[in-house]
Amino acid sequence: MGVVYLNGQYLPAEEAKISVDDRGFLLADGVYEVTPAYRGRLFLFDRHLARLERGLAEIRLDFDASGVQEMKRRLLRDNDLDDAETALVYMQVTRGVAPRTHAFPKDPVPPTVYAFAKAFQRPAPDVWGRGFRAITYPDQRWGRVDIKSIQLLPNAMAMQAAADAGAQNVVFLREGVVTEGGHANLFAVFDGTVVTHPADHHILHGVTRGFVLELARDLGIPVQERAFTVDDLARADEMFYTGTTTEVYPAVMVDGRAVGDGTVGPVTRRLHAAFMEKVGALVAA
Ligand code: PDD
Repeated sequence: MGVVYLNGQYLPAEEAKISVDDRGFLLADGVYEVTPAYRGRLFLFDRHLARLERGLAEIRLDFDASGVQEMKRRLLRDNDLDDAETALVYMQVTRGVAPRTHAFPKDPVPPTVYAFAKAFQRPAPDVWGRGFRAITYPDQRWGRVDIKSIQLLPNAMAMQAAADAGAQNVVFLREGVVTEGGHANLFAVFDGTVVTHPADHHILHGVTRGFVLELARDLGIPVQERAFTVDDLARADEMFYTGTTTEVYPAVMVDGRAVGDGTVGPVTRRLHAAFMEKVGALVAA
């Protein structure tokens, strides 16, 4: 897998070891972040860092994030990803190693910090152009999914159900309300207006989500951050997901029923083009 970062060291993945008493391993007591990189350039780095720092503060975990940017750059470099069209850096911070208790360790221990970089693949243009399929799935996650916790069992269960159904993502439903996807935010288009769940405690405040909302406003596309139901979604003209690695990703079918006319719609295409333009500008800079 290449060179990874663990607690201040850069080392081959096979040599990176953590303790069985790590609170991330035992309790999922930690947060993570995934930052995209295009041709070695981190995209929207400051926003990803800000979300990490906010998550750490929410879970009361002290961590000095001042070296994170340099660490991510070095991981890209050391893994020969500076020329990769699309890559990501994953990092997680856990509350460290201590005998298992639910409450935090009485004497604070250093956090465990782990990171790796790898390339990711975009769908081929013809595949993207046909759009993707999703299934609805109950959103059984905890009440603070705005914190990017490493506890992803409900997401794993949901994404496996999607895979079993031959779909690529889920529409999470919380009492009938569409929240987001299994690892991406979800948008619908109604009569030309782009609608997505408000950034409250029931969705991850996706960096890509925020960026795409800005792109829409710049393009003069009306946007609304409001809750909508699965019944509303049945009347949507378009639907798409946003996320790191997902970028802007059209969904044309939910539970076997077409969204709109079942093709990738014009608003999705415009936002995707605008997104790709920004990525192009980053790479050209
Ligand atoms: N997933 N919602 C959920 C539940 C997510 O896990 C993610 C990101 C997003 C999109 O956030 P952003 O635009 O900041 O990437 C929304 C990451 C990439 C993952 O777990 O791999």
